[in-house]
Amino acid sequence: MTAFSEHPQDAISKHMKRREVSVPDVNALKSTDVVVAIRSSAVGWVDLLMTSGLYQHSLQPPYTPGLEYSGVVEWVGSDVTQTSVGEKVIVDAFVSGPRTSGDYQKYGGFASYAVAPQEAIHAMPKGFSFDQGCHFLGNYETAYHCLIACGELKAGETVLIHGASGSTGLAAVHLAKLVGATVIATGRSEEKLAVVKEQGADHVIHTKDPETGGLRSFRKEVKALTGGRGVDVVYDPVGGPISEESMRSMCFGGRFLVVGWASTPFVAKGEKGKANPNQLPTNLIMMKGLKVLGCPAVISAQKDPSIRVKRLQDLLAWAGEGNIQPYVSDVFSFEDYREALLHKWRSKSVGGCVLRVSTDV
Ligand SMILES: NC(=O)c1ccc[n+]([C@@H]2O[C@H](COP(=O)([O-])OP(=O)(O)OC[C@H]3O[C@@H](n4cnc5c(N)ncnc54)[C@H](OP(=O)(O)O)[C@@H]3O)[C@@H](O)[C@H]2O)c1
Repeated sequence: MTAFSEHPQDAISKHMKRREVSVPDVNALKSTDVVVAIRSSAVGWVDLLMTSGLYQHSLQPPYTPGLEYSGVVEWVGSDVTQTSVGEKVIVDAFVSGPRTSGDYQKYGGFASYAVAPQEAIHAMPKGFSFDQGCHFLGNYETAYHCLIACGELKAGETVLIHGASGSTGLAAVHLAKLVGATVIATGRSEEKLAVVKEQGADHVIHTKDPETGGLRSFRKEVKALTGGRGVDVVYDPVGGPISEESMRSMCFGGRFLVVGWASTPFVAKGEKGKANPNQLPTNLIMMKGLKVLGCPAVISAQKDPSIRVKRLQDLLAWAGEGNIQPYVSDVFSFEDYREALLHKWRSKSVGGCVLRVSTDV
């Protein structure tokens, strides 16, 4: 990325270029550094937002996109104890890459090689492909932080998951089923919802009004599916009008989890002066005794690093036991990076969209 543009589509076509650079000079690296030969890099929503300069985490171009990636260890410094050459690994986006600050911010996954500190390296969970590995931590940590740490979702409860075909949404479907909850998943495409159902959702609701193309009311369906009671928990990574309709679909005392706002991506900077579309109705919050919880997975863990310890332990254990299997619908070759980003921008994928940087194993 050589410069930001107001719109990601513009940034992708005008300011993103592939160019030859020399491989990292190991003589210039720290003794605790690791060089990873990258195999797969996730194409994520945050990668898109960053190209517009609107994302809350600042970084200055030029930089290499690709928050999360997987690969094979190519070189280790003399003091590295956590991995060795030839190991298949995933690289932790909380510690290295564009979502961090400092020495390793410049090393993103849209490249053949990256340098990361050894604390960023995790062994590839057993049975994961490289494509699944690059699509694991960020999405499942978000779903865990929202549903389990903040939402305290329990077995026997019902959760309404919006944007369920998305990267964090599908991870939320998987984790909600793992804790024993009933899942009602929403989306705007029959084809994608069919995959979401195959992936574990108990019920799916199509939310697009066929006439207007906007949101259609779904509260009656949700009430019917919950015996008239409403859901215990809402997982909302979409925002906009769906939030109020969701509150009308909740039980008294339910927990509403603010995960993100995929429907209003430019809200961070006011979208050229428009009023903020993500306003929530205090009358419903008050009269239904709702608990509205903001759930930032990265910022919360930065403020209190202990938050991350249990969630990493649980997720790595569940993955190792075969209880989590990230789903990746689309894989693009490295040359097609622009197409991959636009595919993600247009919400064409289910679960993961991946750039296969190299096919060597
Ligand atoms: N809380 C956190 O810590 C955290 C962490 C990561 C991401 N996020 C945020 O969560 C949101 C989703 O991220 P993601 O990675 O899951 O994105 P994603 O993979 O693009 O998925 C978002 C899903 O939302 C749905 N959607 C998009 N635009 C919509 C619209 N106008 N109306 C209704 N639904 C729409 C789409 O599903 P359909 O096409 O099927 O409707 C899409 O698959 C983003 O705002 C992101 O910044 C938050």
